[in-house]
Order: sequence, then structure tokens, then C-alpha cells
Amino acid sequence: MVHPNTELRWVNDVIGRGVFATEFIPKGTITWVRDDLDQSFTCEQVERMESIYREILEKYTFVDGRGRMVLCWDHARFFNHSCEANCLSAGYDFEIAVRDIFAGEELRDDYGTLNLQTPFPCDCQSPNCRKQILPDDMERWADVWDGLVRCVFPLIPQVAQPLWPLFQEKAEVEAALKDLGNLRSIRCHYLYARQD
Ligand SMILES: C[S@@+](CC[C@H](N)C(=O)[O-])C[C@H]1O[C@@H](n2cnc3c(N)ncnc32)[C@H](O)[C@@H]1O
Ligand SMILES: [Zn+2]
Repeated sequence: MVHPNTELRWVNDVIGRGVFATEFIPKGTITWVRDDLDQSFTCEQVERMESIYREILEKYTFVDGRGRMVLCWDHARFFNHSCEANCLSAGYDFEIAVRDIFAGEELRDDYGTLNLQTPFPCDCQSPNCRKQILPDDMERWADVWDGLVRCVFPLIPQVAQPLWPLFQEKAEVEAALKDLGNLRSIRCHYLYARQD
């Protein structure tokens, strides 16, 4: 479920729609959490579907660390990618704001964290745009992403967390809040082993 202070808006003709903040969302806020209404599918299930379903799932799902394609039931499925993402996942089933997000600003994550199956051409307009987001970007960027999450993770108890009741991993998060050494790496979600 996506943070309640968000809505769907049109971005542009290339990107389509995206998720925007309707109010200030401070860094350390959980912006999305996987919940019981999200659906997940195995690759075999998807292969057996009509192409009209497969196309929808290819666009709107991400692949979790178990190889399941996850379709979010709400407007979380409209998160766009940015090479300067303001929402990132730690090694848990949620995303956290790694910067303050102001009303009217788009919430975007990094598709490099989501087990892409093919390269994704990026048009995020960031000066640091990687141009192609690659299935193995985790191997290059995980330390950077972990560092950004580590900076804001201690703020979790200090800011409003409307999505906290949906957390499945409260004990693990509380352990990491007591000792950041317990913080899981985003690599926990990485499906593909290096092949060289
Ligand atoms: C999960 S959907 C996001 C919602 C989508 N913008 C829409 O309106 O349906 C993923 C799709 O959004 C577009 N998209 C997201 N981020 C993008 C980016 N940085 N550059 C280009 N296209 C992007 C691509 O068409 C991509 O396949
Ligand atoms: Zn980019």
C-alpha cells in the first residue's frame, strides 16, 4: 500500500502517469509497504496467461527476491523510476523516503532494485541519469542505496508512519533500530547471481 498522502498525476507523454505527494512527506517515512491485497504470480503462471494479461504484468509488476511477479493493487503500481530516487527499499518489504519529499513532488524509486528481466531505457531527466537501467545494477549500486537508507532509517520512530500497521517485519525493523548493524542490505532482494 502506498502512503495515503499521494495521488496519481500525469507526468508527460513519454512517462505517462506517476505517484505524487499531496502533502509534505519527511525523510524516514515508509512510502510503500507490501500488503496482503497485492497479488503475486510465478513466471509459469504468467507464461500460461493470455498476452493481454502478460503485457499488463510486464509493465506493472516488479520481481521479488523469490522470483514472484508482484502486482500492487493500488496506485503503487504507477511508481516511476528515477536515477535519483527519493524512495528506496532496504532489505525489507517496504520503501522509505531517503529525502524530504515536498507536496507536488513525484515519488520515484529505482528499478535497478526490482530484478529487471531486461534493460530498461531511462528518460528520468536527472543530470546523473544512467540511461539504461540494467538487471545487474544491484552489483554496482547496492552499497550506495544501502548508504542512503542507513542515513534515514533511524528516523523511522521519529516521523508519522501511517503504514506501520501493515508491516510484516516489525521485529526485524526494531532490531535494526536498536543496532544499525542488523540493518538488512537491499541485496536481500537480488534474484540474479553474478555469472562470470
Ligand atoms: C510501473 S509503470 C509506471 C507507471 C507508468 N508511468 C504509467 O503511466 O502507466 C512502468 C512504466 O512507466 C514508464 N517509466 C517509468 N519510469 C520511467 C523512466 N525513468 N523513463 C522512461 N519511462 C519510464 C515506462 O513506460 C515503464 O514501462
Ligand atoms: Zn535515469
